[in-house]
Amino acid sequence: METTLNTNRPMSFQKNKGSQGFICFICFCSKQAHSLGKRLVQHGHTAERFFQINFCQSEKFKLTITNNKHKMATGIRWGILGTGRIAHDFVTAISVVPQIQIAAVGSRNESSAQHFAQRHNIPRYYASYEQLVQDSSVDIIYVASPNTFHKEHALLALNHNKAVLCEKTFTINAAEAEQVVDLATRKNLFLMEANWMPFWPLFIKMRQVISEGLIGEVEFLQANLGFKNNHELNPGLLDPKVGGGALLACGIYPVTLASFLFGDTPTSVTAQAKLNENTGIDETVSIILKYGDKKMASLSTSISNFLDSGATIYGTKGSIRMDQMHCCPTKLTVYVDGEEPIVYEEPLPTKAPDAVFNFPNSEGLVYEALHVMELVTQAKVESDVMPHSKTVANMRTMDTIRQQIGLELPTH
Ligand SMILES: NC(=O)c1ccc[n+]([C@@H]2O[C@H](COP(=O)([O-])OP(=O)(O)OC[C@H]3O[C@@H](n4cnc5c(N)ncnc54)[C@H](OP(=O)(O)O)[C@@H]3O)[C@@H](O)[C@H]2O)c1
Repeated sequence: METTLNTNRPMSFQKNKGSQGFICFICFCSKQAHSLGKRLVQHGHTAERFFQINFCQSEKFKLTITNNKHKMATGIRWGILGTGRIAHDFVTAISVVPQIQIAAVGSRNESSAQHFAQRHNIPRYYASYEQLVQDSSVDIIYVASPNTFHKEHALLALNHNKAVLCEKTFTINAAEAEQVVDLATRKNLFLMEANWMPFWPLFIKMRQVISEGLIGEVEFLQANLGFKNNHELNPGLLDPKVGGGALLACGIYPVTLASFLFGDTPTSVTAQAKLNENTGIDETVSIILKYGDKKMASLSTSISNFLDSGATIYGTKGSIRMDQMHCCPTKLTVYVDGEEPIVYEEPLPTKAPDAVFNFPNSEGLVYEALHVMELVTQAKVESDVMPHSKTVANMRTMDTIRQQIGLELPTH
């Protein structure tokens, strides 16, 4: 029997003095009686997970993790702005956490709001976003409208003294992002870009592996994110009016990953794109970011082609491969020069039995939601994982890319 979990490795699931959450690993083998044994380990990521997660180590093992520290933020009431695909996925994903309360939903039209409320068992619905943000029982608004409307809707919520979790891409440009951040700061209200990537357990593991020096100094990132969109079924992705295009749909993730590895401000940005001949929207973009003379990222994104959407991080002593989609990783392989590779796998959080998602791996939206709730409960106004400065800096990088590829998007 082989396992991809090498428990003798220093960066394996062992004690991490900085963390408080304990997890009980109970291991089962699917084919024969074999156990990695029971053990208490400390959990390496910040979001408190108090629900059960099935944890698979290849097909041969199934681990059930139960976090015995049920210190969960209760009493935070969500309002959902917009009833589109990601709003459905977000609400469906967080519905597995019984303590999470979704108080209300708002839509531009009553029937959508009513349908969404009924489907997700939400007590109140509104036929406008203005009514939603006036609901005094709502603490935090999840902005799930198209990219070009994020600024308007985030400002609307903040102006009604609501905390805000705003979908990616946060705004159309850095100037808009600064405007939203400025209002949240002046009003001392919580605000975060709903960039779910850094809250995934294996993203946290990747950062831990790097900080422990296992692959040496990180020098190069190769990361893509792209899929072949059905432009007839999903015309919004080709529509500048709603902020379509590869860069805003997917490109923000490799740009954000580069910022986590090398810093928020590249010293040089070079980009080329294939623009759609009818709408001028960016269908495929390739980007080179440099950070001084020694560090570099090569990134690509597309809404016309399925790209290899993993990421490989190259260091002076080895590399890390994030398979499939690096924005929501479920498998991580660490290659240290001259040693056997180590594979970490983490399955998706449990979903409700009847849950259907529009997007891959949407179960993992619960990670960012729990992070936000923990912070709002502590009266924090900013995430230390996804701070305002990173959001704004990444928007500046995106602005430079857009200028270079000649892409103009409308602002509202
Ligand atoms: N985190 C992720 O993994 C992820 C995945 C996909 C998308 N996203 C982001 O989530 C946001 C929404 O994407 P989506 O795929 O859910 O889009 P969608 O299905 O088109 O839904 C967007 C919703 O926004 C509302 N809306 C307000 N003004 C609108 C307008 N002028 N035109 C169209 N809709 C308008 C609508 O809700 P009402 O009709 O109820 O008002 C609509 O249902 C985008 O910013 C996208 O980048 C994030």
